[in-house]
Amino acid sequence: MSNPNKEKEFEVNLTPRQIVDELDTYIIGQKEAKKSVSIALRNRWRRLNSDAAIRDEILPNNIILIGPTGVGKTEIARRLAKLAKAPFIKVEASKFTEVGYVGRDVESMIRDLTEIAVSMVKAEMQERVKPKAEEQVEERILDLLIPPVKKKSKKSPSQPGFQADEDFDPENASTEELNERTREKFRQKLRNGELEDRKVEIDVQASGTKSMQIFGPAGMEEMGINLQDMLGNLSPKKTKKREMKISEAREYLLAEEAEKLIDHEAAVAEAIERVQSSGIVFIDEIDKVAGGTGKQGQSGGPDVSRQGVQRDMLPIVEGSNVSTKHGMIKTDHILFIASGAFHTAKPSDLIPELQGRFPIRVEMDSLTEEDFYNILTRPRNALTKQYQAMIKSEGIDMEFTDDALKEIARVAAEINSSVENIGARRLHTILSTVLEELLYTIPDDIKEGNLTIDKEYVNKRLDGLITNRDLSQYIL
Ligand SMILES: Nc1ncnc2c1ncn2[C@@H]1O[C@H](COP(=O)(O)OP(=O)(O)OP(=O)(O)O)[C@@H](O)[C@H]1O
Ligand SMILES: [Mg+2]
Repeated sequence: MSNPNKEKEFEVNLTPRQIVDELDTYIIGQKEAKKSVSIALRNRWRRLNSDAAIRDEILPNNIILIGPTGVGKTEIARRLAKLAKAPFIKVEASKFTEVGYVGRDVESMIRDLTEIAVSMVKAEMQERVKPKAEEQVEERILDLLIPPVKKKSKKSPSQPGFQADEDFDPENASTEELNERTREKFRQKLRNGELEDRKVEIDVQASGTKSMQIFGPAGMEEMGINLQDMLGNLSPKKTKKREMKISEAREYLLAEEAEKLIDHEAAVAEAIERVQSSGIVFIDEIDKVAGGTGKQGQSGGPDVSRQGVQRDMLPIVEGSNVSTKHGMIKTDHILFIASGAFHTAKPSDLIPELQGRFPIRVEMDSLTEEDFYNILTRPRNALTKQYQAMIKSEGIDMEFTDDALKEIARVAAEINSSVENIGARRLHTILSTVLEELLYTIPDDIKEGNLTIDKEYVNKRLDGLITNRDLSQYIL
């Protein structure tokens, strides 16, 4: 840490209460969980802004979110990462127990996280160089339309602020001058959007070279050696000509120019720092690797591998160096948020060392009918808002009456308790069933106007499904 006082661009300076307020705009209820994650996030800011002598000693307080499916565990972690502008990755702990994974590659989560951070930083940098890249793209498109003439004379052709028309004498103008004038005319046309559909031919990266996977001997990835990259750099870049509209070519060239303008080394360095000081790893289904101590007489394969996964995870969570193709990553200050339903296993079934690394346990609440009603309407990305926006795109305004929303919430709660509790996910299945017919008939039969979804309509669409347990099992 070179300069402790440097206010990092990516440092988000939100207080715990502000963080909770932000989370509230997306997630209903779950006060305790929001509080814990807000503290964890603020603690990172506190650490980065604390005395250098102790900064490296301050460890993150990793969290376990405990709760049934569909109550917002993943959603909270995801929103938190967005808020913090932090590199974020979600992994399923159980994936590491699958055949072929055992004993291998728990570290891959850190590698993937680093990859995400690199893309994130590069995207931001590209955004910053966009104005410059756009200028260069304009030149390149002009070059395609009006190839510049070789400059023969010493007298360089007029600069962008070229002479006014009165001074221009086409009879005596040099080739360069004529060329320059034509270019300027086309520049104006381009800027006025008059040439968007004109076809140009540009060199594009030949596909195929990129998508070809090369598998190296096992273990090479661990050492941070990427065969693909090595070979990719050796073989010449293959390009081929492709014809496209200027509007398309502009997009393509913009990406290419922006890529050229950014400092890749700086991007990687910044990405590494971000991963190390603000990365968040969300480990889902941690309960699936709990247990397996053999105490319950369940010795054998899966148990061994479950404990194995925990043991593999331990050094990463405790803090160690993981080598990635971008360099070493210190995991000491990465925040780990684990989650699980813990129906059968308990947090105390995790190996003690791992338990110690997740000192904060939060129980998430089951969602009530009232929560469902709020989830349907309040979050910024609420389902009803999503459907309204989609239908609006067809030129139709759709409204839900209050009793319709209450009815959907009631049905969701009822089916959750009678069939299976899948939390807020139930709202997705119910709402899509309610709206299916409309989504199908718009715009063929219903072309314009206002639609009101009321309780009667909801009941009509769900008629028979709720009372018939077999049907609701499959459809709702
Ligand atoms: N409290 C909540 N407020 C708003 N939306 C919610 C809430 N809980 C769940 N949802 C919505 O329900 C869906 C599923 O939630 P999420 O992915 O967070 O479940 P989960 O708790 O991680 O479940 P699982 O244990 O199955 O992974 C998401 O689309 C989310 O937006
Ligand atoms: Mg989840």
